[in-house]
Amino acid sequence: MLRTHTCGELTLKNKEQHVTLCGWVHKSRDLGGMTFIDLRDRYGITQLAFNMEVNKEICEQARTLGREYVLKVTGIVKERSNKNLKIPTGEIEIFVSNIEILNKSIIPPFTIEDNTDGGEELRMKYRYLDLRRNVVKQNLLLRHKVAIEIRNYLNHQSFIEIETPVLIKSTPEGARDFVVPSRMNPGEFYALPQSPQTFKQLLMIAGFDRYFQLVKCFRDEDLRADRQPEFTQIDCEMSFITQEDILNTFEGLAKHLFKIIKDIVFKEFLRISYADAMKYYGCDKPDIRFDMKFVELNEIVKNKGFKVFDDAELVIGICAKGCVEYSRKQLDELTEFVKKPQIGATGLVYLRYNTDGSIKSSVDKFYNQAELDKWIEQFKALPGDLILVLAGNKEKTQKALSELRLEMANRLGFRDPKVFAPLWVVDFPLLEWDEETNRFYAKHHPFTAPKPEDIPLIDKSPAEVRANAYDLVVNGVEIGGGSIRIFDKDLQNRMLHLLGFSEEDAQAQFGFLMNAFQYGAPPHGGIALGFDRLCALLGGSDSIRDYIAFPKNNAGRDVMIDSPAKISDVQLKELHITIHN
Ligand code: AMO
Repeated sequence: MLRTHTCGELTLKNKEQHVTLCGWVHKSRDLGGMTFIDLRDRYGITQLAFNMEVNKEICEQARTLGREYVLKVTGIVKERSNKNLKIPTGEIEIFVSNIEILNKSIIPPFTIEDNTDGGEELRMKYRYLDLRRNVVKQNLLLRHKVAIEIRNYLNHQSFIEIETPVLIKSTPEGARDFVVPSRMNPGEFYALPQSPQTFKQLLMIAGFDRYFQLVKCFRDEDLRADRQPEFTQIDCEMSFITQEDILNTFEGLAKHLFKIIKDIVFKEFLRISYADAMKYYGCDKPDIRFDMKFVELNEIVKNKGFKVFDDAELVIGICAKGCVEYSRKQLDELTEFVKKPQIGATGLVYLRYNTDGSIKSSVDKFYNQAELDKWIEQFKALPGDLILVLAGNKEKTQKALSELRLEMANRLGFRDPKVFAPLWVVDFPLLEWDEETNRFYAKHHPFTAPKPEDIPLIDKSPAEVRANAYDLVVNGVEIGGGSIRIFDKDLQNRMLHLLGFSEEDAQAQFGFLMNAFQYGAPPHGGIALGFDRLCALLGGSDSIRDYIAFPKNNAGRDVMIDSPAKISDVQLKELHITIHN
C-alpha cells in the first residue's frame, strides 16, 4: 500500500504517529506563516499543516499545489488548536515532512463541493469529477449497501442469483426495444431485455425454485426523473407459492431494508385493490403519506341546472383541510394548474367552508345552501376547509384530481421525503383497452395469470377479469410489480389470442415458453423491484439519476462519452445496414 491510513480515520488516538496518506487536494488556505491543505479521499478529509518557520521548503512546495492534485504525504499526527468537530478527523492535523506529487490536475470545470457551481450538463460531462463530490459519492455508497443487503437477505431465503442473457429477441409487447444488429445473421436483430421475464420463468421450469438477479434492463421509452433507458431491477421468481407468499417475502425484504438503512420499523403494509386505488386516489400508485381521499358527488350535484356537472360522467373532489383562506389568486393558480394540457381538466369548482360556518362556492348560482350542506356532509368537511371539485370523463377526471391532490399536498408540505408510506396495490385488471389501437393490452405483461375465479369472464367481459398481479408502492412511486404466472400452454395461448396474436405469431414469439410449459412447469410467480428507484427513495431523492454512476440525460444521451454516436461505413456495411437520410 502507498498509504498507512485513509483520510477519514485519524483521530486524537493517533496523536504523534508517523503516517502516510494519499488523496486529492480538496482545498488549500495560505495564511502567510501557515499553509493548510485539506486532503480528500473516499473516506474523508484530513487537514495537512505546513509552517513556514518550521519547514520553509516544504511549505513553499505546498503553496504550489493546485486543486485536485493527487498527493502522497508523510508526516506526524498533531492535535489541532482550532478543532472542527463536524468531521471525524477534525481534532487532528498532519505536520507534513514529505510531499510526493503522484499526479497533477488541470483546473476542474466546477468546484468539488456539495454545493457546486457546476450545472447539470457540465457535471454529467465530467461525471467522474461529479462523483468525487461527497453528496454524489454517498449515494453510490448507499446503493452498494442496499445491494449487499438485498443479496444477503435473498441468499438467506434460498434464492440463487442466476444471470440471464442480454442479447435476446424483440417482442411486440411492452415498451419499445433497443435492438442490436447481428453481423453473422444479415438483416436480423437481437433486442436488449426489457426484463428477464421469460428467462426467469424458464428457470422455474428448470427447477431452480427461487431465483433472483440484480439485472440491467433496457426500455426505449420517454424519460422522466424516475425512468432511465437502462436501469436495474431486483428481479425475482419463486415456484410452488401463492400470491400471499410473494407479498410476504418481499414485504420482508422491504422491511429489512428500511430497518437497516433508515432504522424505521414497519408493521404490516397496507393493501388496497386497484379498484379502490382508482376510486379514492385516481391512480394505481397512491401517495398515502396524507389522506385527502376522493369523494364522489355524482348523486348530489346532478340535475340542478349546472351543465358541466350534468354532462359529466364523474364529479369528484378533495377536501383541503384548513385551506379556506386560499386567496382568489391561489385558486386561480390551481385552476390554471388543472387546465394545463398534461392535466387536462376544463375547470375547477371550489367551495369554502368558512370558519364562521358560512359556505361560499364558485357555483352558488346553481346550488342553494341546503344543497351545499350536502357537499359538506359528503366530504365530512369542517369549518376552515376548502373543497376542490373536478368533473368530466371518468378516467381523465380521476387522473386530473390525482394530480391536483399531489399538488395540494406539495403546497401543504405533506410529502416529506423522510416519511415513508408503503402499500401493496393488488387485484390489477388483467387487460387494458387501448382506444387508439382498438385492442386489449396486458396490464402487467402477457404471462400474468387471471384470477382463477375470473377465468369464466375472459370471453364475455375481458375488461373485468382481474389478475393476481400486485405493485409495491411507496410515497407515490411504483417501486415494484409482479404477478402469479400462467403455467399452462392452453391458457397462455388464449391470453395471447386475446392480445391479438394469431396462432402463428403466438408460436413464433412465445412458442419456446409455451413448449416449455408442456414439460412439467411448476406453478410460479414473482416480482421485480426497481433498484434505482428503491435507492433514490431510501436516499430521499426523486431523481434516480443521482443513484446511478453514469446515467443518461433526458434525451437518452451519455454526454460524457457522447453516446449514442454514428458508426463507420465499414461497420454499417458489415452489419448490412443502410442509413436513409
Ligand atoms: P415492471 O415493468 O413493472 O415489471 O418493472 C418492475 C420495476 O422496475 C422499475 N422500472 C424502472 N426503473 C427505472 N427506469 C425505468 N425505465 C423503469 N421501468 C421500470 C419500476 C418497476 O416497478 N418482468 C416484470 C416483473 C415481474 O412480473 O416479475 C417487470 O419488468 O420500479
